[in-house]
Amino acid sequence: MASKRISPKRISIGEGFAKAILFGEHSVVYGYPAIVCGLGVGAIASVQDAETSAFFFTGVNANFQTQLESPSSLAEGFRSLFEVLGITSSVEIHVDLSIPTGAGLGSSAAIGAACCRALIKHFNLSEDLIESGVEAFEVVFHASPSGVDQAAALYGGFFQFSKSSGYQKIEVPVLDLVVANVGSREPTKHILERFASQKKSDETRFKVTMEEMGSLPSQAQIALTNKDLVEVGKLMTHNHSLLNEVGVSSPELDIACQIAIKAGALGAKLTGAGRGGCIISLVQDPSSNAVEKALLKAGYWTRSYHILENSGQ
Ligand code: PMV
Repeated sequence: MASKRISPKRISIGEGFAKAILFGEHSVVYGYPAIVCGLGVGAIASVQDAETSAFFFTGVNANFQTQLESPSSLAEGFRSLFEVLGITSSVEIHVDLSIPTGAGLGSSAAIGAACCRALIKHFNLSEDLIESGVEAFEVVFHASPSGVDQAAALYGGFFQFSKSSGYQKIEVPVLDLVVANVGSREPTKHILERFASQKKSDETRFKVTMEEMGSLPSQAQIALTNKDLVEVGKLMTHNHSLLNEVGVSSPELDIACQIAIKAGALGAKLTGAGRGGCIISLVQDPSSNAVEKALLKAGYWTRSYHILENSGQ
């Protein structure tokens, strides 16, 4: 008797990149530039046809799933994405994450970019939909994002970003960053809302601090061009203290930065929305592993990233 042939399921893959903001989180929302580094890793999504739409996440701190009809924000993100792409068929999407979620590394944009790319391939849709698809997904988590996470998730690399000029690739010397996650924090949307209301309550002080924060990217650009990593590190630490002044650091983030600096980092700061999540520290001599070891010893999820000139896409 001839055996019944089972046709293999067609799977479409897409990738989205995580990022670390070196300079300018929060001030970028108010129109100042930011300097951002794509980490070259993030989210990989695989899409296949299914009876009902469901989404499965695995990775660093992820092992969960959601359905399209679920009341979760994640499901809402997928509903918005499907609407923009005009998808009415059911699919299963599996997402593998190489960074922690909700920790300041742009995981939601990386997931959005990976899924949007995979869905566009799967349904043979126009590539022109990519930016609006990722934005629709991202808006659910950020309310009014600056667009920096979305740019990093789609294009990666090392770049300057502002709301008015968008993504501008920049040349950098080789950079060694150690990223450590101090633990859970509120969703970005809530941190941004609180930041906006604090800003209203003391407009003058916020304006001065924002202007100072907003001036750091251009100072950092000069230091990066001169390959002056000591100066880059100092500016990073200064950026952290300004973020602390406007209330988006936390005792845990401050302690992690101090541990990194004590172990020899040239500078350290929170990255992303803050109030928890990740710090980034700049390392001069990665071969010693001293900073990575100290952060690991303190119990944080820790990774080293060797950022090459022209890394990313
Ligand atoms: O914490 P994340 O990865 O969501 O990054 C937020 C970065 C902000 O500057 C605080 C917000 C934004 O949209 O630029």
